[in-house]
Amino acid sequence: MTRKILVLPGDGIGPEITAQASRILAACQARGLDVEVEEALVGGGAYDEYGDPLPAGTLEKARAARAILLGAVGGPKWDRLEDLSKRPEKGLLGLRKSLGLFGNLRPAILYPQLAEASSLKPEVVSGLDIMIVRELTGGIYFGQPRGIEERDGERVGFNTYVYSESEIERIGRVAFEMARKRGKKLCSVDKANVLEVTILWREVMDRLAPEYPDVELSHMYVDNAAMQLVRAPRQFDVIVTGNMFGDILSDAAAMLTGSIGMLPSASLNESGQGMYEPCHGSAPDIAGQNIANPLATILSVAMMLRYSFDEPALAGRIEAAVGKVLDDGLRTADIASEGTRTVSTVEMGDAVLAAFEGL
Ligand code: IPM
Ligand code: MG
Repeated sequence: MTRKILVLPGDGIGPEITAQASRILAACQARGLDVEVEEALVGGGAYDEYGDPLPAGTLEKARAARAILLGAVGGPKWDRLEDLSKRPEKGLLGLRKSLGLFGNLRPAILYPQLAEASSLKPEVVSGLDIMIVRELTGGIYFGQPRGIEERDGERVGFNTYVYSESEIERIGRVAFEMARKRGKKLCSVDKANVLEVTILWREVMDRLAPEYPDVELSHMYVDNAAMQLVRAPRQFDVIVTGNMFGDILSDAAAMLTGSIGMLPSASLNESGQGMYEPCHGSAPDIAGQNIANPLATILSVAMMLRYSFDEPALAGRIEAAVGKVLDDGLRTADIASEGTRTVSTVEMGDAVLAAFEGL
């Protein structure tokens, strides 16, 4: 297995936050992490340069890498591109699909230091530790047929929500295994009261359950799950769901923790390759201002070390460094609260690096 890491900074705040994460990665290399790091273009920047949000050269490098660190893609500059296949998001979706990165792990953990930054009451969110397992290469995001066409004198838009049993089983196993390593509770989220595809989803989850007798499986409709997430989020341990529901619920879960700027994610395939990215987007409104929160990207490096390089000690060291910086009262603007010191993107990177070295 190669020891290559491909860094894809992307658009908007992507380059600023990956720059800070790359400094931490370099510090890990100095401590013996044996990896080769290279960079490439993806998203809007790649479109501007090559007319393609996922140029062949980038895809080739991605295929050859053991792990990919991605910042974010997209921005208003490219929002008017009519051809969806040229949109920056297509760079990201194309990577996920081409590499078969079906298993998306999105942890939502509340750092006790940030309880005040959550829009929910501290007593509702304190101790929150949820893992959302989102299917990432199927469902309505990729189903065929899709398009916009003329029917009976008007334009009609359509997409297809489709999952095969094997796709459901594959993500189900990831989620059951994850629950096994955590609180042993798995909630499968669907819309089985309306959509056949999720009736099948529920059936397959039920069929797997006896193989994991130590895990308690429950089912919830997605609308109820959205409500429960903001009503009583600590009832959840692991949530497993399809691509689109997972997209929506993971943003909601992220915000429970105070800021979407804190949350890393991992997307894994069957051959052990992984792509690691912050859950937030490219935030074009604050791009280039040195105010974005780099912590989700830095924590994505920690996830990478844990899942792709089996380096739990270095991963733990990064996470502890982030904890230390928060303890010291440093905050980027998105997580600032009374009595804390607001710092820039680079200052936050400096502080995490210093804490990492000092631990
Ligand atoms: C995410 C993002 C992407 C998605 C977009 C940028 C295509 O929202 O990773 O959650 O919808 O999957
Ligand atoms: Mg999303």
